[in-house]
Amino acid sequence: MGGSPSFPREPLSPEKVVIVTGGNTGIGYETAKWIAMMGAHVIIACRTKERALHAITRMEADFEQEKQKGTSGLTSGELSVEFMELDLSSLKSTQKFIEEFKASGKPLHVLICNAGLGMHPLTYTEDGNELMFQVMQMYSLNQRINQSNVTVNSLHPGVVHSEFTRSFEDDCTWTCTYNCAKCFGVSISPYKGAITSIDVAVNSKHSGVRDVYFDKCAPASPSPEATNVENQEQLWKFSLDCLKDYITEEDLNNLGAKT
Ligand SMILES: NC(=O)c1ccc[n+]([C@@H]2O[C@H](COP(=O)([O-])OP(=O)(O)OC[C@H]3O[C@@H](n4cnc5c(N)ncnc54)[C@H](OP(=O)(O)O)[C@@H]3O)[C@@H](O)[C@H]2O)c1
Repeated sequence: MGGSPSFPREPLSPEKVVIVTGGNTGIGYETAKWIAMMGAHVIIACRTKERALHAITRMEADFEQEKQKGTSGLTSGELSVEFMELDLSSLKSTQKFIEEFKASGKPLHVLICNAGLGMHPLTYTEDGNELMFQVMQMYSLNQRINQSNVTVNSLHPGVVHSEFTRSFEDDCTWTCTYNCAKCFGVSISPYKGAITSIDVAVNSKHSGVRDVYFDKCAPASPSPEATNVENQEQLWKFSLDCLKDYITEEDLNNLGAKT
């Protein structure tokens, strides 16, 4: 019973295409690396080319080390990771990314929306939105696509010592809290923080599962704020309004409708 959270270390098809946003560091790096090491094709969607290419080089070195250790479940092929540029704080960049990905003709099996910030000082994007305002809209999205074979889930990675604290380096309370968590062994490594993301993405026992909030690879109860339907709908409508200059009226209407 119980035990540490884990994901199945089993080779994945090279035909499987997985996008990991923010795959160049922290939880996203480990998520992208392990999924690629098991054989899928991984696209790391990152805002800085240099950091992304450096991450790919590190992943290749880590892969060699894991092979030498005899780690199970690794692909016998090459590591298949590519970089595509995506700055989620710019709708223009996001649209360009989507168009480039569609033009590549690749299928998309899993999208891991990992990129994010924590406790960032109030900042506005070029589109006039608050910077940390992000797509946390699992329930609203599922209600609109529940007749399709696309499933959406969300998760909590744990308290992870990654580069997450850089946004609030000037905030003594938060920095001290994170540093204490690290000293007392409360926080976990980026690899451990990535385990739930990897499991939800690759474990066949989760296929067809939707609308679930995962914690330590198991379904968990989200906060009441997250399950408040009125708030979900308000956020969804606001988000669609932000996108009105970027998507067609027909798509907007389709996204607005619940199935
Ligand atoms: N660490 C925790 O304790 C914790 C707890 C709960 C939830 N989370 C969530 O877990 C996710 C990963 O966090 P982490 O701990 O791995 O943090 P991290 O080490 O700071 O990594 C964040 C990643 O997001 C990318 N990113 C930030 N803004 C972006 C933008 N505008 N466009 C594209 N990419 C952007 C960063 O890119 P650059 O490297 O170029 O900046 C980086 O790759 C985040 O969504 C975070 O909210 C973390």
